[in-house]
Amino acid sequence: MSIIEKAIEKMNKKSTVEASVEKHLSASRPEATAPRQSQVKEQVSRQATPAHERTLTETKNTVAKSIKLDFNILRNAGMVVPDNTRSRIADEYRLIKRPLIMNAFAQGATIVEHANMIMVTSSVPGEGKTFSAVNLAMSIALERDKHVLLVDADVARPSVSKLLHLGKNPGLIDMLVDDNVEFGDVVLKTNVPNLSILPSGKTHPHSTELLSSNEMARLTDELSRRYSDRIVIFDSPPLLATTEAGVLANHMGQVVMVVESGKTQQKLVKEALSRLNGPEIIGFILNKTIGGVMGGEYDYSYGYYGGGYASGE
Ligand SMILES: Nc1ncnc2c1ncn2[C@@H]1O[C@H](COP(=O)(O)OP(=O)(O)O)[C@@H](O)[C@H]1O
Ligand SMILES: [Mg+2]
Repeated sequence: MSIIEKAIEKMNKKSTVEASVEKHLSASRPEATAPRQSQVKEQVSRQATPAHERTLTETKNTVAKSIKLDFNILRNAGMVVPDNTRSRIADEYRLIKRPLIMNAFAQGATIVEHANMIMVTSSVPGEGKTFSAVNLAMSIALERDKHVLLVDADVARPSVSKLLHLGKNPGLIDMLVDDNVEFGDVVLKTNVPNLSILPSGKTHPHSTELLSSNEMARLTDELSRRYSDRIVIFDSPPLLATTEAGVLANHMGQVVMVVESGKTQQKLVKEALSRLNGPEIIGFILNKTIGGVMGGEYDYSYGYYGGGYASGE
């Protein structure tokens, strides 16, 4: 039995965390959804066009900017890359992505709204959200018929661009604060044909609050509707760092909780889960487990609460 299977078996047993998830699934926590919109409205100066009249077209009078990902750098950083799909990490993410894709396109056991919108989060910083979100996005985009938009929504600590060595680009925040900035102006096409990236964009003193703004709600809603054939992965703030992460989760169909193996305390995971109160499907990546299947430094496991576990392809 591989370390992944062992971990899944462990996760499927009635652990304390699982009990808390069952509690979470039946509990209603209205306080977690309370947005701080008024504060955002007061502090963010708005321009002319109402947001609901904007569109997300990638081509409207603009040609989306293209960027080139350096696969050598990414490979050396231990990440999934197109020309090495038989690597251990590629195999592991193959296992992780399968149930997410099944759910996204309503082929899984559970059907939820916006299932193509996937939030990658954790309890606290440093557990591997960005690492997981980028690998997941790459792994899914490498399937010929699957398109992925990777959104850097951890606006207080944006790091997708850093990890991918993309430099500074306008992005999500620019769209949220300036009605003249459209999706097509800021989305980045990449040299992975099915992978686009929406960077976090400029820094803003109330960037996190913006995640719970009406603008963000409209954006996620429109992304989900317009790109229902595409998977949208949000690298998101940790749930315990800010209430806005919980609000963002309300717009998602699936939440992937990254848990740093042997480090994150169970009570923190439970507390983080209590911040989620929507119908989203919750999956877990047990990250950085020591002693991978192939004897590597790190390994990954993926499990679901209360549901089946899909094995790799
Ligand atoms: N499975 C992993 N294997 C190797 N390094 C990892 C793994 N997961 C995370 N890291 C490293 O750990 C650090 C924190 O990960 P990161 O994804 O930035 O966390 P977060 O986004 O949750 O704050 C980074 O240096 C990242 O490259
Ligand atoms: Mg991060």
